[in-house]
Amino acid sequence: MNVLLLGANGMLGPHVVKALEPHHTLRLTDVNDLETDHEYIKVDVSDLEHVVEVAEGMDAIVNLSVMRTDRVRAFDVSARGCYNMMVAAVEHGIRRVINTGPFYAVAGPTYERFDHGVGPDVPPQPGTWLYALTKSLGQEICEIFTQFHDIYVLDLLFYMFLDAETHVGEAGDPIAQVGHDLVPYTVSWRDAADSFRCALEVELEAMPSRSEVFFMFPDLPHGKFSNEKARRLLGWEPKDDLSKYWLKG
Ligand SMILES: NC(=O)c1ccc[n+]([C@@H]2O[C@H](COP(=O)([O-])OP(=O)(O)OC[C@H]3O[C@@H](n4cnc5c(N)ncnc54)[C@H](O)[C@@H]3O)[C@@H](O)[C@H]2O)c1
Repeated sequence: MNVLLLGANGMLGPHVVKALEPHHTLRLTDVNDLETDHEYIKVDVSDLEHVVEVAEGMDAIVNLSVMRTDRVRAFDVSARGCYNMMVAAVEHGIRRVINTGPFYAVAGPTYERFDHGVGPDVPPQPGTWLYALTKSLGQEICEIFTQFHDIYVLDLLFYMFLDAETHVGEAGDPIAQVGHDLVPYTVSWRDAADSFRCALEVELEAMPSRSEVFFMFPDLPHGKFSNEKARRLLGWEPKDDLSKYWLKG
């Protein structure tokens, strides 16, 4: 499959590239410069014409772009970027779009006091945090396109990442030690990246609707956030058990 990646040069991008490169032909894009063996084009997702142009010839789009701060740029990247991506999908007849975001694009502060069973199909309550709000808006824009076009959007939502072997987290910080605290919703980079492989392989018509949201969490004993849907519909199986990092004693 020819796959376009938007925002491929961030923290998650290289892991996704590693998971997908054995199976697909990748066209990487980002607003920054990037040295890679894959095709690379510098693209600002807020530039509609350019996004449409680079999507030509693609079978799927994966959106990893995000801007967490700056009121205008966050809207331009996380919300308008989704609009541009969906216009590109319509223009080129691309039926498979994989969007991403933080879990609180759906399960924001309203859900903090729930003690278990929060799944990705709860009514979205992103709250007022710029990052969550703009990502949630982007997701909603994607969903509206699926109501009018034969395009499937699979939205993969995450909490936090960790390298299961080196204990290194985002931006290379050593964030975890065995027996110490770690947010238990953390998923390993490689399990997270593997969810993109699943989302590219899964049969679209097997989805309950053309817009489906997934929580990509490891197995949690308390079941606060459920990965059941991702396991069932995407066939995703998290392999790295990170419980030793957050179990005490
Ligand atoms: N890292 C985390 O802890 C975390 C947690 C939950 C969800 N996520 C989600 O995972 C996805 C990837 O996040 P990440 O951690 O790799 O983020 P990141 O900030 O490391 O990377 C985002 C990428 O988007 C690019 N970008 C910014 N503005 C752009 C623009 N105008 N045009 C094109 N690209 C642009 C950046 O250059 C960067 O390469 C996002 O959807 C994010 O919400 C990340």
